[in-house]
Amino acid sequence: MAITLFVKNKKPILNRCSDDYFTKMRLRYAPFYHAIDAQKGTTIQLDGKEMIMLSSNDYLGLSFHPKVIEAGRAALMKWGTSTTGARPSNGSRRCHLELEQKMADFLGREACHIHAAGYLSCLSSVAAFAQKGDTILADKNVHSCLWDGIRLSNATVERFSHNNPDDLRDVIAAANPTSPKMLVIEGVYSMEGHIAKLPELCEIADEHSAFTVLDDAHGFGVLGRQGRGTVDHFNLNDSVDVICGSLSKSLASTGGFVAASREVIEYLRTHSKQTVFSAAISPSQAAIAQASLEVMQTEPQHLERLWANTRKYRAMLKGLGFDLWESETPAVPIVLGSKERVYPFWKALLEKGVFTVMATSPAVPTGKDLIRTAVSAMHSDEQIERIGVAMAYAAKKL
Ligand SMILES: Cc1ncc(COP(=O)(O)O)c(C=O)c1O
Repeated sequence: MAITLFVKNKKPILNRCSDDYFTKMRLRYAPFYHAIDAQKGTTIQLDGKEMIMLSSNDYLGLSFHPKVIEAGRAALMKWGTSTTGARPSNGSRRCHLELEQKMADFLGREACHIHAAGYLSCLSSVAAFAQKGDTILADKNVHSCLWDGIRLSNATVERFSHNNPDDLRDVIAAANPTSPKMLVIEGVYSMEGHIAKLPELCEIADEHSAFTVLDDAHGFGVLGRQGRGTVDHFNLNDSVDVICGSLSKSLASTGGFVAASREVIEYLRTHSKQTVFSAAISPSQAAIAQASLEVMQTEPQHLERLWANTRKYRAMLKGLGFDLWESETPAVPIVLGSKERVYPFWKALLEKGVFTVMATSPAVPTGKDLIRTAVSAMHSDEQIERIGVAMAYAAKKL
């Protein structure tokens, strides 16, 4: 009795944090949260060593483009560092409206709304429109932000096999016929590099009057005319209700977008908590995205170079006999199948000056543990050759 008076029990939630197996493993093997000391394009300095960045999503390589950097600097001087407010209250600036209009025009939509993170844009593209009583049909490999949107919506969720229209057909046929439906997919799947089978998926959605939400974080800037994305690639603009995505990949900024008809965007502005109660994207980040969007339309060489690099890189990896999970895009996974194989491979690449990211189950399906790599338009021929040498070395460590 006397002891319990003096020894205070540790709080259960603090115990959870201190005992967590995954955190302990992460700290022990330190595969994540590396702080890069310096960067110039695809060359980085890490712990005093020069390395090639091979896991960034800077597909078009615009993060060091002089016009893009200058636009960010000028906006910083004009608007200050932050709007310190949400869009409905004190956070809206002319530069936000300009970017929204340009994004909408580029995507062939009436309207667009931008958020401070792609995560918020994609989450709200589901959570704002679906509600209890609706049925969401979701590809089982969609990004975590879409799952969070699904959970917040309180709708019933039915998963279908990854990029499998036949399975979607079966799952949708078994769903409550009177419940309003929403289809949730990605344009390009970020881990797998797969392009959505959009014509077949949209046809099924259409038969069931399903509202279609497509996260094109990895298709925007990469596919379609001038990088308009997956919907444009298939010429299916009338079949997809909402295109959402990130400004932090091809647009070399930070933030996200939701593009749709005007009434859909105005509904989002009324009902989405992430839109109403979160601070606006900073003007400098909005200006950076707008400058990148202009470069995408005036300098086609970046998209051309991206695809030339992708072909070269994929051919090199195939020549080394790697399983690339049938990636069709610059997001190229190297599937190694288990944590035990992924870790030494990743370490060997690091040793040879190539920076990549591991993705292990449950982040990827069991047996698909992989090294996630992504090519940029900024990689030089010489860098791709050096990556090839490092890959061959890492393969010997398996
Ligand atoms: C498919 C997909 N959607 C949304 C996001 C979120 O974007 P952001 O990093 O801009 O928040 C990501 C980022 O990893 C993504 O890969």
